[in-house]
Amino acid sequence: MRIVMIGSGYVGLVSGACLADFGHHITCVDKSEAKIDALERGEVPIFEPGLDAIIEHNRAAGRLDFSKDLAAPVADADVVFIAVGTPSRRGDGHADLSYVYAAAREIAAAVSGFTVVVTKSTVPVGTGDEIERIFREEFPGKDIAVVSNPEFLREGAAITDFKRPDRIVIGTEDARATEVMREVYRPLYLNEAPLYFCERRTSELIKYAANAFLAMKITFINEIADLCEQIGADVQKVAKGIGMDKRIGDKFLHAGPGYGGSCFPKDTLALVKTAQDYDSPMRLIETTVAINDNRKRAMGRKVIAACGGSVRGKKIAVLGLTFKPNTDDMRDAPSITIIQALLDGGATVHAYDPEGMEAAKEMLGTVTYGTDPYEIAEGADAIVLVTEWDEFRALDFKRLKTAMKNPVVVDLRNVYPVTEITRHGFSHFAVGKKTEKR
Ligand code: UDX
Repeated sequence: MRIVMIGSGYVGLVSGACLADFGHHITCVDKSEAKIDALERGEVPIFEPGLDAIIEHNRAAGRLDFSKDLAAPVADADVVFIAVGTPSRRGDGHADLSYVYAAAREIAAAVSGFTVVVTKSTVPVGTGDEIERIFREEFPGKDIAVVSNPEFLREGAAITDFKRPDRIVIGTEDARATEVMREVYRPLYLNEAPLYFCERRTSELIKYAANAFLAMKITFINEIADLCEQIGADVQKVAKGIGMDKRIGDKFLHAGPGYGGSCFPKDTLALVKTAQDYDSPMRLIETTVAINDNRKRAMGRKVIAACGGSVRGKKIAVLGLTFKPNTDDMRDAPSITIIQALLDGGATVHAYDPEGMEAAKEMLGTVTYGTDPYEIAEGADAIVLVTEWDEFRALDFKRLKTAMKNPVVVDLRNVYPVTEITRHGFSHFAVGKKTEKR
């Protein structure tokens, strides 16, 4: 089967490489010459564990190639996925669909014979209808079916998520497109991943509803965490206690500094806007968005409180900058707001992140970057864990204590057992737990 992926960003590259691994022939297209040149040189422009090996293997096998030109590969394709960006539109929070529609027009101009065009990018409800209208009115005579097939990949675990998905959602009522999509995902179907067919609009909404629900679940536990701190309960134990109820489930109940990343902030906002447009407001999600926005700045205040109420002239060591571990993605990372609050309070901030420092340099103010946790802890008044990278889990607290000026640990991801911290003489501040002062 010949498949073209329009957009070689995060979603396009991961999906393209994994589909090639299933034995399809994939061409990943991108307008960015620099990106395609790099991919052709064997360089992978994003950090995703395992992706470089899959790309290399499938290129060598002749199943995966890259192109700046869209027309030639699309003319030969059975299926064309649109995996271009849908950022929040400046000003109103709606998803910006200009790249999607531009890609759709270029695809329609190039197709020959029956072709299935699939939206993989997260697109608001009705986008498939609009693409179909464009095809019908501007490209009459072209035989194209428009399908929705949202991705549910988590950064850092994207390869596993693609190959072992909980489900594959496919929105189409077209019989020919249904058969083609079955063929695309046949290798997964044999792995018993359920293919869930529904109407296109329903499929588009499933993606937003899933992300909004997960963002709401995180926000719920974050508010429970705040309450735990006031009443002397432990949020991790509350999460475990409620998570054992199968109706609730134990995933996405880790309290922390607020959700970030390329999806939750953008998709919750877009769902809120869509719901308002349809005069069916989603107050739960409006509130989720507002609580999460406030939370990031509140985490800055939490650090300031841990430092005795002021950070003026103090040195704060920040461990982890990306919105979560195993990615170099800094989009909407809580670290950005937390660090800004610390800088506003007059602190000097030293930071270290295994993968995110290049991207962080363009987004953060005056921050000094170190080469490891011990270097940035030298003379520090507090260590703040913002992103739970594995390499931060087993730190040598004895060594840190000797290096630091004041032994204060603020653990915004609840990774350190309190006894491990306090037995080395640190004050310990976590999320949704009792503070232990030394
Ligand atoms: C998410 C969805 O999980 C995925 O299905 C969708 O396709 C894209 O958006 P991603 O943004 O890569 O994936 O990361 P995810 O692991 O979901 O985490 C998102 C944010 O929530 C991170 O900032 C993370 O730290 C935070 N989070 C997650 C919590 O604070 N607590 C949790 O329990 C889980």
